[in-house]
Amino acid sequence: MPFFVAADASELAVGYVVAHYGADEAEILNLGVAPEHRRCGVGKALVEQMLATLAAKGVRSVYLEVRESNAAARRLYEQLGFTPVGLRPNYYRRPPEAAVVLRTAILAVGGDA
Ligand SMILES: CC(C)(COP(=O)(O)OP(=O)(O)OC[C@H]1O[C@@H](n2cnc3c(N)ncnc32)[C@H](O)[C@@H]1OP(=O)(O)O)[C@@H](O)C(=O)NCCC(=O)NCCS
Repeated sequence: MPFFVAADASELAVGYVVAHYGADEAEILNLGVAPEHRRCGVGKALVEQMLATLAAKGVRSVYLEVRESNAAARRLYEQLGFTPVGLRPNYYRRPPEAAVVLRTAILAVGGDA
């Protein structure tokens, strides 16, 4: 289960991303950046690192769920090539909300795709 933590110059954790994978598919389970460190590229760098790691493990498709109203995360994932492939109504609680399922295809390392 790949897990990356981003740290600042004082080695304090400022963000993390975690995923799991099997065969050629993976799912990003969670991503978070401390509020005072947002909009500095940390989240994007974490997901880019995760996608590179998953690619090296033979993963070709990466999925995740995100709150429909989470414009920040949806914009970040869109920049990294994720597109909506489904909607899960009432997926989240407190408050209840649908999840958008996003997917991206990643290229094979070494160009053997
Ligand atoms: C979503 C989250 C991880 C983004 O982390 P971040 O480090 O601020 O993101 P980045 O600085 O790498 O932003 C990359 C791009 O995402 C988009 N983005 C990020 N935050 C945004 C916001 N508040 N509003 C609009 N777009 C946003 C922008 O396009 C941004 O590029 P830009 O700054 O060049 O315009 C962070 O807001 C967070 O931890 N949110 C709460 C937890 C969460 O929603 N996790 C995702 C669950 S799926």
